Amino acid sequence: METDKKYILVTGGAGYIGSHTVVALIEKGFTPVIIDDFRNSNKDVIQRLQTITKQEIIYFNIACQDQPRLRGVLEQFPAFGVIHFAADKAVGESVEKPLKYFDNNFGSLISILELIQEYNIEKFVFSSSCTVYGDPEIIPVNEESPVSYNSPYGYTKKVCEEMIEQFIPSCPSVKATLLRYFNPVGAHESGLIGEEPDGKPNNLLPFITQTAAGIRKELTVFGDDYDTPDGTCIRDYIHVVDLAEAHVAALESLDDSKDNPVVYNVGTGKGTSVLEMISTFENITGKQLPYTIGPRREGDIKEIFANTDKVNQKLNWKSKKTIEDAIATAWSFEQYIREKRSKK
Ligand code: UFG
Repeated sequence: METDKKYILVTGGAGYIGSHTVVALIEKGFTPVIIDDFRNSNKDVIQRLQTITKQEIIYFNIACQDQPRLRGVLEQFPAFGVIHFAADKAVGESVEKPLKYFDNNFGSLISILELIQEYNIEKFVFSSSCTVYGDPEIIPVNEESPVSYNSPYGYTKKVCEEMIEQFIPSCPSVKATLLRYFNPVGAHESGLIGEEPDGKPNNLLPFITQTAAGIRKELTVFGDDYDTPDGTCIRDYIHVVDLAEAHVAALESLDDSKDNPVVYNVGTGKGTSVLEMISTFENITGKQLPYTIGPRREGDIKEIFANTDKVNQKLNWKSKKTIEDAIATAWSFEQYIREKRSKK
């Protein structure tokens, strides 16, 4: 058993947000222990994390529901905290395969909470999403805004939050934080880790970078007839490196409020439209992006962005990076991935 280090179990640590959080944890003196079954991530992210951090990365190819093997990991690395990223996250797929989402997202959470109780783990950070606000009537949304869902994926996030709320009274020694992410974008400045969608991207910025790289013929803007200044939808795009740091802030928080779990919006507080994203991409890269205006995408909401007062004040966390930073790093990462694939 090794005890001189502050181990943090990071489920889904090879994924998009997880991998950036691993870097942020190491920068702050924690020792992340990655649990990932690589169903939705790339094994060589581990090697790239080693290049970025110049450290040996501890990782295990284990699914979150495999408790016997997870116990083995926790015996070897007594963790002070768990950050639980591992989940399925594609809204469209969740409509087609809701049971897959229920099995993985609920099953993994239950397994992890049982282990938290068994091993007296002190801190728990859960990846939630602004999807729990559904289609909000009042914007910006704060943590008290009404919650709902409009996909099986969104349903899993809402119910997982409620499961944690109902679990805590039976295990009050753990301090739980629910982070409601807005739209994560961008990549690490090294250009070595970023968002690597398998096949056709669902999300806007990877679709933009793949189109600019010539992999996709053109981007379809899903609707320009919304009641917004330029007619396209508005989102709160948060740089993934800033988002990663919010997880470290949650672990380090000395917030002794009675709220357990405590909920935070993690966004920038600023809304950006789809057309603004496109024009910023064009300005930064000097590339013209081929796009057409298509019909609205089912399930899309017109507009959402965060009220971030609570996270700014209580976690002393604020987003620092800009949309421009996010686009520039996402573009570097796209080129890195293309080069790597062309060598294979
Ligand atoms: N968009 C396009 N064309 C595309 C892709 C996206 O116009 O090819 C538009 C969408 O219509 C939307 C905006 O770009 O207006 C952002 O779309 P994303 O798919 O990138 O993100 P969403 O806001 O739809 O979804 C994100 C997360 C989900 C989460 C949801 C909560 O990806 O996990 O926010 O609102 F559930």
